[in-house]
Amino acid sequence: MCRFAGPVAVQCLFVVFTAMAAAGVSRHPVIVVMSFDGFRPDYIRPDVTPHMARFRDASASPPYMRSVFPTKTFVNHFTMATGMYSETHGVLDNYMFDKDYKRMHYTYEQFHYDDSVVPIWIQNENNGDGRYSGVMMWSGSEFAYQNKYPTYIQIYNHSMPWTNRIDTIMSWIKDKNKPANLVYAYFEEPDNTSHLKGVNAQETINQIVRADATLKYILDQIKHEQLENKINLIILSDHGMDTVTYDRMIHLDNYVSNTTYKSVISGPNAFIHPNPNKFDEVYKNLSKVVNTSRTFNVFKQDELPDRWHMKNNTRLKNIIYLLAKPEYAFWNKYFELILSGTTKEKFKVGAHGYDNEEPLMRAIFMASGPAFKKNYSAVQFNNVDIYPLISRIAGLTEPSRPIDGTIKGVEQLLSPQPVGAAPVSTSPVLGILSALLLHAIARSL
Ligand SMILES: *[C@@H]1O[C@H](CO)[C@@H](O)[C@H](O)[C@H]1NC(C)=O
Ligand SMILES: *[C@@H]1O[C@H](CO)[C@@H](O)[C@H](O)[C@H]1NC(C)=O
Ligand SMILES: *[C@@H]1O[C@H](CO)[C@@H](O)[C@H](O)[C@H]1NC(C)=O
Ligand SMILES: *[C@@H]1O[C@H](CO)[C@@H](O)[C@H](O)[C@H]1NC(C)=O
Ligand SMILES: *[C@@H]1O[C@H](CO)[C@@H](O)[C@H](O)[C@H]1NC(C)=O
Ligand SMILES: *[C@@H]1O[C@H](CO)[C@@H](O)[C@H](O)[C@H]1NC(C)=O
Ligand SMILES: *[C@@H]1O[C@H](CO)[C@@H](O)[C@H](O)[C@H]1NC(C)=O
Ligand SMILES: [Zn+2]
Repeated sequence: MCRFAGPVAVQCLFVVFTAMAAAGVSRHPVIVVMSFDGFRPDYIRPDVTPHMARFRDASASPPYMRSVFPTKTFVNHFTMATGMYSETHGVLDNYMFDKDYKRMHYTYEQFHYDDSVVPIWIQNENNGDGRYSGVMMWSGSEFAYQNKYPTYIQIYNHSMPWTNRIDTIMSWIKDKNKPANLVYAYFEEPDNTSHLKGVNAQETINQIVRADATLKYILDQIKHEQLENKINLIILSDHGMDTVTYDRMIHLDNYVSNTTYKSVISGPNAFIHPNPNKFDEVYKNLSKVVNTSRTFNVFKQDELPDRWHMKNNTRLKNIIYLLAKPEYAFWNKYFELILSGTTKEKFKVGAHGYDNEEPLMRAIFMASGPAFKKNYSAVQFNNVDIYPLISRIAGLTEPSRPIDGTIKGVEQLLSPQPVGAAPVSTSPVLGILSALLLHAIARSL
């Protein structure tokens, strides 16, 4: 650690110079956001995830982070990229209807409900002054926004080993000509395995351990490059995970004739588009089931709770929206496939998409680096506020379209003197020396 007392000062300067010689790192604060899909706060345990437990304790970290509704992957990743609720950015689920009521999944249209909504990786580059973004497999990153792409993109490829992903991220950050100051990176586990095998399966625990090892791997790389005092590393997830057994599967076909509507169903969430003149009948029959079974809720668009921030969206026109109660889900082909490999008795799958107030839907957040307080137990906040947090650290201007998130809930995380506040000098060496000097003066006061 760099201290300013007496004889170690020389050694300290040496460390500063070697760090600078290491590579062409951005002169802006560097921010790396890593998302582990479906990582629940209670997965972090010193015996299972020692590196995450230690990282969390040294970080600015709330007990959990609140996801937006619905608690799905594309929805929440796009919220963390745009600072918008689902009703504003228009990604209402991973699978949803397109404008012609056909099923869509990861299409340009899905991520372009409103062209004035722009991900932070574009806003970062729009701010210029040597800012470059790198996006690794983040939901929605393959598409252009306002005809722009980030400087670095790795499209989704689950076969790419996680250590290779980290190596790629580090190469973006160290690029001699265009060093990335902002990186968003996505890791598809433990979500995928917990869906298939259940939350408590050994296979899922193996993926949790793998995430822990990946954190250790990037921390080792950062240390190796002597960038511990330069990189702000944020580890987070998009949502939690609940468990559903076969007896809690809701078979809609048993209640309402499936020739009277089209549907897009994924886990606990369902969009129902009734045939012409069938809206009221389908709604009434579904309401009857709701009243007798109490396993799910049914909503017309204007009945959706305001607190979900989903209702004000034209993509819900002529839609009846269904949400299963916790531990329940709507039967579909995906579950059929899982059942084909097991028995009804042993059938135990992971599911998410439930009310964002459900404790099991909570996500993780921990942040470490020069911009953040150390060893700080934060108050929980909403993931829609991630955008303003990163925008503040990266020194970005306000986006031309106002966002839904605010700095209020996340300001608590920031260290009182972020490095970005150091006086700017034309020479980075002089800049750092004057920063050191100021720091030394401040300490002696
Ligand atoms: C995905 O990654 C694997 C492993 O790195 C590689 O062999 C494969 O070619 C990649 N696929 C695509 C489509 O890039
Ligand atoms: C999901 O997990 C299963 C079982 O662990 C694995 O076989 C499969 O390759 C994974 N799929 C993805 C997309 O990661
Ligand atoms: C429609 O429901 C019937 C049972 O009522 C079922 O056999 C059939 O597979 C369903 N069709 C589709 C397309 O899901
Ligand atoms: C709704 O319920 C009524 C009465 O049980 C039944 O006749 C009708 O076919 C149902 N409609 C649909 C769309 O399932
Ligand atoms: C379901 O219950 C609600 C509240 O008790 C009631 O207003 C509604 O009419 C019921 N719907 C049907 C179709 O029975
Ligand atoms: C609903 O969305 C429209 C278009 O995005 C916006 O102009 C309007 O202010 C929103 N209304 C509410 C109540 O949020
Ligand atoms: C973090 O702070 C708590 C009290 O706020 C203290 O007990 C603990 O030892 C600190 N841990 C580290 C790693 O500094
Ligand atoms: Zn999932």
